[in-house]
Amino acid sequence: ARIRHYRWEVKYEYKSPDCFKKLAITINGETPGPKILAQQGDTIVAELKNSLLTENVAIHWHGIRQIGTPWSDGTEGVTQCPIFPGDTFIYKFVVDRAGSYLYHAHYGIQREAGLYGSITVSVPNGESEPFAYDHDRSIILDDWFHKSTYEQAAGLSSIPFVWVGEPQSLLINGRGRFNCSLLATPSLEAGVCNATNPECSPYVLTVIPGKTYRLRIGSLTSLSALSFQIEGHNMTVVEADGHYVEPFQTKNLYIYSGETYSVLITANQDPSRNYWVTTNVVSRKPATPTGLAILNYYPKYFKKSPPTLPTTDPLWNDTAPRLAQSLAVKAHKSFIHSPPLTSDKVIVLLNTQNKIDGYYRWSLNNVSFSLPHTPYLIALKENLNLNHVFDQTPPPENYDFKNYDIYAVAENVNATSSNGIYRLKFNTTVDIILQNANTMTVNNSETHPWHLHGHDFWVLGYGTGKFDMMKDVGKYNLVNPIMKNTVPVHPYGWTALRFRADNPGVWAFHCHLESHFYMGMGVVFEAGVEKVGKLPSSVMGCGETKGFHRP
Ligand code: C2O
Ligand code: CU
Repeated sequence: ARIRHYRWEVKYEYKSPDCFKKLAITINGETPGPKILAQQGDTIVAELKNSLLTENVAIHWHGIRQIGTPWSDGTEGVTQCPIFPGDTFIYKFVVDRAGSYLYHAHYGIQREAGLYGSITVSVPNGESEPFAYDHDRSIILDDWFHKSTYEQAAGLSSIPFVWVGEPQSLLINGRGRFNCSLLATPSLEAGVCNATNPECSPYVLTVIPGKTYRLRIGSLTSLSALSFQIEGHNMTVVEADGHYVEPFQTKNLYIYSGETYSVLITANQDPSRNYWVTTNVVSRKPATPTGLAILNYYPKYFKKSPPTLPTTDPLWNDTAPRLAQSLAVKAHKSFIHSPPLTSDKVIVLLNTQNKIDGYYRWSLNNVSFSLPHTPYLIALKENLNLNHVFDQTPPPENYDFKNYDIYAVAENVNATSSNGIYRLKFNTTVDIILQNANTMTVNNSETHPWHLHGHDFWVLGYGTGKFDMMKDVGKYNLVNPIMKNTVPVHPYGWTALRFRADNPGVWAFHCHLESHFYMGMGVVFEAGVEKVGKLPSSVMGCGETKGFHRP
């Protein structure tokens, strides 16, 4: 195994990823940031210099379990203090399993400003995968907003509430297209929006006729659920979140923020032309143009637009095919990790939109999450006076199941706020049932992608309507459930998952939509914190840990 050293400088820079110039957060001048390429067992050392001048930062390695290094998870407020402007922080961890992963900012809603990238971990030498391909490519999908993260965050936490709205464009590998003629004052500043800027020319995926490509597709959208398709080419899904999938074919790949999929495509179509690669918003009424890239057949002219019109498929409000895809993702038959057949604890999380003192929030079982000033991991490990750090009452493990109408706006939309956490017994098996409901808008329920830090979980089932403890538990897939780290809960539906609390540390579990987590849509689990090794002093320096200041 090797040590892979990265030296990164994080900065605000003017960029025009969709032809519109705005400040983006870059790593060494790029957004998306540099790609991490490693082999299973390698150690990643990322030396991060915060050159944002007036903002803190932290980076989370999404999908990497951080076994033995929970302090490198990069979750500000949970596992570390923020990295202050001017400071350098070193993340060091092992990529212990092959697969496709991501990294992104985990401070405020900074991910939205472009601080993200991909991690590809290849199998060890001599080990093979259950499918074959000639070339490997990574594709990151993102939605892009022209407002700054400051404006958005301030709007979300104001009365009256200012919603972030729909994204201005969709980016494929950091490139999209905003229609400059839509600007109210187009000539405000020369060059603010320039359709001929090479920064916003579409991403081109060049393929050699006859070859098979593994596309590692990840989504780090702030808000949007997406559909992804390649004109004229079927995709075979073979991996999800680092686990092999029993292969199946699809025309539209639905992908939610925080998920990764590998698909295989073969360049077997008419090589005399190019094809559209498209991504569209689903689940919310789209107000964003289709995201476009070009599939180019070598050696034809590589930027030539395809002769066809790009698809705007599928229907945004058709939930059925999305639920069907979720159900189709099963563990590959030769790579089944059997789940424990029973669990020690069941936590039901009712997902609702609420108000607290007039502020808009999201809640679980009517409790909206807020981060403490002192990171949990440090407080628990260093035996600080916990009463000073976070609410010692754990959040509720259930809601008024019988009487809650998930199809209606709640009679009383008010919730409470807490930074309490679930303290799990080490090595126990925990079931989580995510129950979706109506928002504060009549006839509206959203899609929430839930992401667990530090673990993969088994996806035991999905369903529509209210989860039924009597009937639905019996229908769990205990035979070949896929393991994942991010999973959607569909509108008015439920999702059941199981994990073993076998990774010592403190771990966030939250909706991966930036604004939703910011508005309280998350919980935190602690397990086996006494087994955590000595914390590096570099994670400290904020809140009650000021006395433990870094060297
Ligand atoms: Cu990819 Cu806590 O997030
Ligand atoms: Cu959400």
